[in-house]
Amino acid sequence: MTNDKSLKFHIFGNGWVSGQVQAALQAAALPYTVSLERIENREAVLSELEHIKPTNVINTAGARGDPNVDWCESHREETIRSNIIGASNVADCCFLKGIHLTHFGSGCIYDYDETHPWGGPGYTEQDPPNFTKSFYSYTKVVSEQVLKQYPNVLILRIRNPIAADLNPKNMIVKLASYKKLINVPNSGSILPSLLPGIIVLAKHKETGVYNCEKTNPGAFTHNELMGLLKKHIWPDLAWSNFSEEEQTKILTAPRCNTELDTSKLQEKLSQYGYDIPTAHEAMEKAFGEIKMTQDVTLNRQELYGNAAKNPAPNDTPAFPQNTTSPSCTTPPVKCQSTTFCTLSIASIDTRLMPQAVRRALLQDRLSFPRASRRFRL
Ligand SMILES: NC(=O)c1ccc[n+]([C@@H]2O[C@H](COP(=O)([O-])OP(=O)(O)OC[C@H]3O[C@@H](n4cnc5c(N)ncnc54)[C@H](OP(=O)(O)O)[C@@H]3O)[C@@H](O)[C@H]2O)c1
Repeated sequence: MTNDKSLKFHIFGNGWVSGQVQAALQAAALPYTVSLERIENREAVLSELEHIKPTNVINTAGARGDPNVDWCESHREETIRSNIIGASNVADCCFLKGIHLTHFGSGCIYDYDETHPWGGPGYTEQDPPNFTKSFYSYTKVVSEQVLKQYPNVLILRIRNPIAADLNPKNMIVKLASYKKLINVPNSGSILPSLLPGIIVLAKHKETGVYNCEKTNPGAFTHNELMGLLKKHIWPDLAWSNFSEEEQTKILTAPRCNTELDTSKLQEKLSQYGYDIPTAHEAMEKAFGEIKMTQDVTLNRQELYGNAAKNPAPNDTPAFPQNTTSPSCTTPPVKCQSTTFCTLSIASIDTRLMPQAVRRALLQDRLSFPRASRRFRL
């Protein structure tokens, strides 16, 4: 039986998803601290864990590209450092310290194929990933393969996340900012209804890989989602469709379209008495909250500008900066506000990175030879 009073969460990453996680922890009255360290920095991560002594770590840090995943194609070393070395380092440090880690991975590691066509069965956690055509996805596949070897790690595959705000990272803001869209069914994660369940899993130190997508009735096409946005938020929303071939011409990296099976997540959560609301319920609730709390004047230029420039989290805090961090009891070397604690600034030493990462990259059979050639170990 978990005693909530003994729990102490420590979060790596302070971007959009982190803000959502922080809000969910606050709602659950669970104490947390937020790191300012780079996750690939082994000494700093270890030292922070030793000083803060969290019972649970949540890793939301990761490179997802600015303004979008195309960035990762031309910033491969940075992407590897955050998504592979950093993620593996956090998992390994937590393992050494006996701490449970909840890691936010990605579901963008599958693409529809003959056995999993539109409207067919969704990919389960047992299916090997089949999409590494973008460098971002490649790093998410490699990191998942490394992290799932650790007995202390819960990996959450999120996709196309939706939340009750107008942050440029929110899937609905991205969609609304485009005038032309492909119309393909895709699954996605509705964070406000998903995160309380994820906290339940973290509290109970569940491990393994989970597809964390919206559930019943499965995937939504972009047109269906746009229709809901038009109905609930922006009555003036108008768009047209173009083909996947036309879309490919304006992108650097290929994108995947897929639906993931969420039975494993649903079954596990129901064991704890938590039922994820249906996608329609969850979205209507999120859209209602957006209408109540945000300025929803439809200014596409502005939405597009925001989505494209993708401002740093500090410019557009996803979480109020003056919120206190209830468990910040350690004496920080620099403590910028009550939200953040940090303990040390140490130099990056990739020679200290976990052997599992080296092995994964050296034995790379994930059909991305350029990456492993460019990364000298
Ligand atoms: N948003 C999505 O659409 C989506 C979908 C699926 C999965 N995910 C995954 O969810 C995670 C969070 O995404 P997000 O939307 O919250 O992105 P975000 O707003 O860009 O936040 C990412 C955070 O990670 C930090 N970070 C990146 N590399 C780091 C490193 N090496 N050390 C320490 N911090 C580092 C960033 O800090 P700096 O800015 O200082 O680098 C930023 O605070 C990512 O792993 C992402 O791949 C996101």
